Amino acid sequence: ISLYGSFYEAHAMKIIITKNYEEMSERAAEIMLGVVKQNPKAVLGLATGTTPLGLYAKMIADHKENGTDYSQIRTVNLDEYKGLPKTHEQSYAYFMKKNLFDGLGIIPEQTNIENGAARDAEAECARYDALLEELPRDIQLLGLGSNGHIAFNEPGTPFGSGTHVVELAESTVKDNARLFKDISEVPQKAFTMGIRQIMQAKKILILASGESKSDAVYKMVKGEITEKVPASVLLLHPDCILIADESATRKLKANQSRQDSFVGRVVCDKKDTITV
Ligand code: F6R
Repeated sequence: ISLYGSFYEAHAMKIIITKNYEEMSERAAEIMLGVVKQNPKAVLGLATGTTPLGLYAKMIADHKENGTDYSQIRTVNLDEYKGLPKTHEQSYAYFMKKNLFDGLGIIPEQTNIENGAARDAEAECARYDALLEELPRDIQLLGLGSNGHIAFNEPGTPFGSGTHVVELAESTVKDNARLFKDISEVPQKAFTMGIRQIMQAKKILILASGESKSDAVYKMVKGEITEKVPASVLLLHPDCILIADESATRKLKANQSRQDSFVGRVVCDKKDTITV
């Protein structure tokens, strides 16, 4: 934690609770579009997975309707399966092209992601580390793993980590199996941006939807900042927004009314927005 210098104390994490997935995506789109409109040369840190699909669809719809300009935007992705080339349909590079970049007219030269097919994994991590130094992100979008991971930083990953290769947790392989024909096809390893580098983004936007994320949301927000819950590090970031839907905040809300130490740390800002 000493790595963060002046970010020693826990800053406020803004939490927006929405009715459902649709509204979560809508609020997330407002924030992303705000960044893009304020700085047409912004660097966007992006995520894959199911959670951001609604947001990406809204960004594409806005681009078509309002012509929001992405021609000078650059993107940096969090992670990529090790062993999959960018042309593989299950690769994250392919996912981004299909679900966002093509719809926004973003060309490959504007985008960055780890090369899953790299022969020399160490060299690939060093390349990505150097690239991240050169491209400070204006915003980093994150999904939340049901075990509290962010990117593929699984529980136990040091907060000071840079880009590295991870052995995916069994629960993550299971969670991701729905996107593959068979669980045996899910890669067991991935490249991931480190926690230190996630924390370097100017602004962080983390999204959570559904009951399966309720426990992770609770552990992240409850305030025990520990490497056992990678997402809990976000409490140390000076500008982090969590947008979570009702079902993802069920456990959080259930515990809000109890007279435990957690209650004192939750302040109602305005309707459905709480600051921890
Ligand atoms: C994806 C990523 C992962 C996911 C997380 C949640 O690039 O880094 O951390 O954000 O596993 O996944 P979904 O959104 O599929 O529930």
